[in-house]
Amino acid sequence: MATRMNCSVQNTLSLLNPSHLSLRHRASRFSHRPLRFYSTPNPNRGGLFCTCSTTNGESFVLTTPLYYVNAPPHMGSAYTTIAADAIARFQRLLGKKVIFVTGTDEHGEKIAAAAMAQGSTPHDHCNLISQAYKTLWKDLDISYDKFIRTTDSKHEAIVKEFYSRVLANGDIYQADYEGLYCVNCEEYKDEKELLENNCCPVHLKPCDSRKEENYFFALSKYQKSLEETLNKNPNFVQPSFRLNEVQSWVKSGLRDFSISRASVDWGIPIPNDKSQTIYVWFDALLGYISALSDEQEQPDLLNAASSGWPAALHLIGKDILRFHAVYWPAMLMSAGLSLPKMVFGHGFLTKDGMKMGKSLGNTLEPNELVHKFGTDAVRYFFLREVEFGGDGDYSEERFINIVNAHLANTIGNLLNRTLGLLKKNCQSTLVVDSTIAAVGNELKDNIEKLVDKAHMHYENLSLSSACEAVLEIGNAGNCYMDERAPWSLFKQGGTASEAAAKDLVIILETVRIIAIALLPVTPSLSWRIYEQLGYSRDQFDAATWGDTKWGGLKGGQVMAQPKPIFARIENQTEDEDKGAAVGKTVKSKGKKMKQAQQVAGA
Ligand code: MSP
Repeated sequence: MATRMNCSVQNTLSLLNPSHLSLRHRASRFSHRPLRFYSTPNPNRGGLFCTCSTTNGESFVLTTPLYYVNAPPHMGSAYTTIAADAIARFQRLLGKKVIFVTGTDEHGEKIAAAAMAQGSTPHDHCNLISQAYKTLWKDLDISYDKFIRTTDSKHEAIVKEFYSRVLANGDIYQADYEGLYCVNCEEYKDEKELLENNCCPVHLKPCDSRKEENYFFALSKYQKSLEETLNKNPNFVQPSFRLNEVQSWVKSGLRDFSISRASVDWGIPIPNDKSQTIYVWFDALLGYISALSDEQEQPDLLNAASSGWPAALHLIGKDILRFHAVYWPAMLMSAGLSLPKMVFGHGFLTKDGMKMGKSLGNTLEPNELVHKFGTDAVRYFFLREVEFGGDGDYSEERFINIVNAHLANTIGNLLNRTLGLLKKNCQSTLVVDSTIAAVGNELKDNIEKLVDKAHMHYENLSLSSACEAVLEIGNAGNCYMDERAPWSLFKQGGTASEAAAKDLVIILETVRIIAIALLPVTPSLSWRIYEQLGYSRDQFDAATWGDTKWGGLKGGQVMAQPKPIFARIENQTEDEDKGAAVGKTVKSKGKKMKQAQQVAGA
């Protein structure tokens, strides 16, 4: 992997002048003090503003937020990670070297308070909850490459080094601050954004009034650079309506923010001032870089950055957009590091219109969902149902209807019926190559177009539309099956029977293509399809997006015994009262997974 460091001298000497800084941030609540110490400036800088960029060949680094460990994960946290996993798997299918980073954010007041409430030490509490995340990621088939914990010693070393670089750049100063703090957001709030009784609009709890002497980051210095970055790189913040939001924050004037806490012990001490710890965000954001650090090497900021930075994509929820699209780029500029290429802010999973969250206690248990409905169903439902970027409300009835209709019927049943016919009429063996079977067949052309559509949607992170395009392939396959009615052609015998045998090859090739095109979203369902089509695990693992091209199945290939690949979700009320089930409210009690009553041989 080639690593290059550019130090481009810019006409930004004024940025380095601390006197310039003191003129800028004159918010009424600050009383500014000169810094008591300076760390050794980075010798590479030579006193000039330096932009260090790394090139990392074909690496595609994508990140989820690092999750707070105040409580175990809920469906809202799982949502970002499922989406990130689908994107990572898609990029891998394209042949990219993907580094998929996730992890846990373990410092700060909120975590210390959660540990105390559990009668535990912060250390033990973090170990426990961090492990709960790892277990859930396993249950959800999350294929992360790096899991960073902000209590890892390599992370701490990199945060301190980053702090020192920012300090050496003249961007940290001491001041008194008085303001209203939301512990759940871990953020000082502007009075005008609060509800009655100074309640945080996200957590609906009153903010605390705080007065402290803190270290501040000179965000205001970066106002112009940020404006330019956003204007020149409209893709930096996605979806585009979130870019407008970020631009208006920046335009309305950036205020310096406090990056230390005097009253919080559970954190990384400020270098040279042990009486304060680093503010959780100034700590956690660095996890995106420290995660890249090589386990074997001494932790070092630039070494870590040379292993894949800048990230291609930060995937986050809309509530933490300001930190990622305003604070983080300014911090990186100050430290002379490249900016991530894109920050995508998705919407919220809501319950009764309110953000589902640990603090509000209105969460949906991902473990329970996985246990009840299976991993593929959970992954598919949230990616298909919620337009990526917007909000989405969860309903169990809708969940069941969607996964039954799409995964059990459109895809699962199509495969099962076809394999049943093949078993009955062709000894489960394909009579001809799928390319030969499809000569002059319109279905093939239609599928190629739909595959291109799915590809485009995955590239644009339109995950729901990508699922829709794949489902259209399934619908086309079902229509073909119904129109051709191979079961009756087989009964006619002779050339009609030969044509029916070819039809089965065509339909199975269609399902094979669905397996690859839906693999980013439903990896284990895709494997079960491949297994039924007679492929080995190694062959499946070697699949690429190129395998969505028509022509994979070959004559003579023997299929496995037909076996339902997706269990239809039934409920007892339905069993008791067959026929009246469609569209009625499903009660969660008494629900069970039941093997689909697949019609083998139609
Ligand atoms: N620790 C910070 C992130 C630091 S990143 C350097 C944090 N943690 S969090 O656990 O509170 O949230 C993590 C992510 O989960 C955020 O992107 C947030 O938007 C997302 N979600 C939490 N609840 C959610 C929903 N109800 N719906 C969708 N995503 C939600 O913020």
